[in-house]
Amino acid sequence: MNRARRRFSKSLFDRRAQLGCVPVLRTFASLMILSAAACRRDGAAVGGTGGGLGSTGGAGGGRLDAGSGGQGSEAGGEAGAAGRADATVDVARDAAVDVRSDAALEVRRDAALDRPGDAAASDGSVDAGLAMTLRAAAAQAGRLIGAAVGASHLSEAAYATTAAAAFDFVTPENEMKWDATEPTQNVFTFAGGDAITAFAQQNGMKVKGHTLVWHSQLPAWVSGITDATALHDAMINHVTQVASHYRGQVIAWDVVNEAVDDDGQSLRDSIFYQYLGAGYIDDAFNAAHAADPGALLLYNDYGAEGAGAKSDYVYSMVKGMLARGVPINGVGLQMHTGPADTSPSAAEVAANMQRLEALGLNVVISEMDVQICASDVDTQKTRFHDIVAVCAAEPLCLAVTVWGVTDKYSWLNGVSCATPQPLLFDDNYAPKPAFGGVLEALLGL
Ligand code: XIL
Repeated sequence: MNRARRRFSKSLFDRRAQLGCVPVLRTFASLMILSAAACRRDGAAVGGTGGGLGSTGGAGGGRLDAGSGGQGSEAGGEAGAAGRADATVDVARDAAVDVRSDAALEVRRDAALDRPGDAAASDGSVDAGLAMTLRAAAAQAGRLIGAAVGASHLSEAAYATTAAAAFDFVTPENEMKWDATEPTQNVFTFAGGDAITAFAQQNGMKVKGHTLVWHSQLPAWVSGITDATALHDAMINHVTQVASHYRGQVIAWDVVNEAVDDDGQSLRDSIFYQYLGAGYIDDAFNAAHAADPGALLLYNDYGAEGAGAKSDYVYSMVKGMLARGVPINGVGLQMHTGPADTSPSAAEVAANMQRLEALGLNVVISEMDVQICASDVDTQKTRFHDIVAVCAAEPLCLAVTVWGVTDKYSWLNGVSCATPQPLLFDDNYAPKPAFGGVLEALLGL
């Protein structure tokens, strides 16, 4: 056993000891897989003691610690420009793969893997033990498993219980956007975002801030600015104030969201591009880094997950940022997708991740949902599985976030179709086959 594997096993052992988990050996069809249902949550949640990613900052780049040992990044590449050279990425592909077989000795298969739908009672009560297997599996894989959370839903017990049990990473669905945080110029309202960070802290979950500069959900006062200097000042002030407020409470920020045009030929013709030119993106990242040097700074977009003009554009754009010394640490691939494995295919996503990783950048699947307007839950399961498996296999893929906790509140309801059912838990918080698909992918199955 090499050093990395020993370190991983020790940290897994320590984590299990802290959680009071009883090592249970049991073989089902030669598979021995973790059941965190045997590990009751008391106080510290699974993954909150080392399974997640800690960002400790550093001069120009965040240090990642996924708690799994390893010998640093395999990606190498032109990492130096944004300070990535000093980043230690403790999620080595070999360690993750090797350790899985070691770790499997300490775990058992939960029958619910095969029957996820049985986990919620008909009254909608949640089997938190089963939901927790997701966090535990992500911790074992050295990844974070996240969900977009809406502050207004946290008072619903089943929502909060499910979110806290299943996920160890939170993205505020709307609460940290510009219209929510600065509805009037220089008057900041952090109540919604603060409710999310408090919930996350109570439940041992990490938070990604979303999002500082975006053409959408802008307050009217920003859209009404007609002067480049005024817009630039407003943007820098917004980034500075919001990122400063959440310094230490978020491990990452989606600094700029959806800046590339759908045709992949240019930047989007947003108010920022119109008045400030392409440099607004660099400026936003520099301001975010100055305000929160410890946060991982991400560029986030849709339609750039696999192959094609838009992903090529994003790749060139972030490569240019690195060359200019802009403090960018990674790229978010939103992954709002249908159930077919074609747009984009898992293989294309893997190739795109690999070229971004070769620049020394981290990647995350940042907003995954799989609408099934004309499909079924089993096809959806396969899609979730295959995309999550790509992240689990890529050393610099840090997290998979699904864009919501329950189908009941998906942003796609009535949009893709009446009931696209795009998430891992149904309207009654019962885990769907897709839940099992994500779980299996995190476990390497
Ligand atoms: C969506 C939210 O889910 C909705 O509640 C809101 O009405 C609109 O925005 N890309 C993003 C997210 O980066 O912020 C969007 O979230 C979904 C698309």
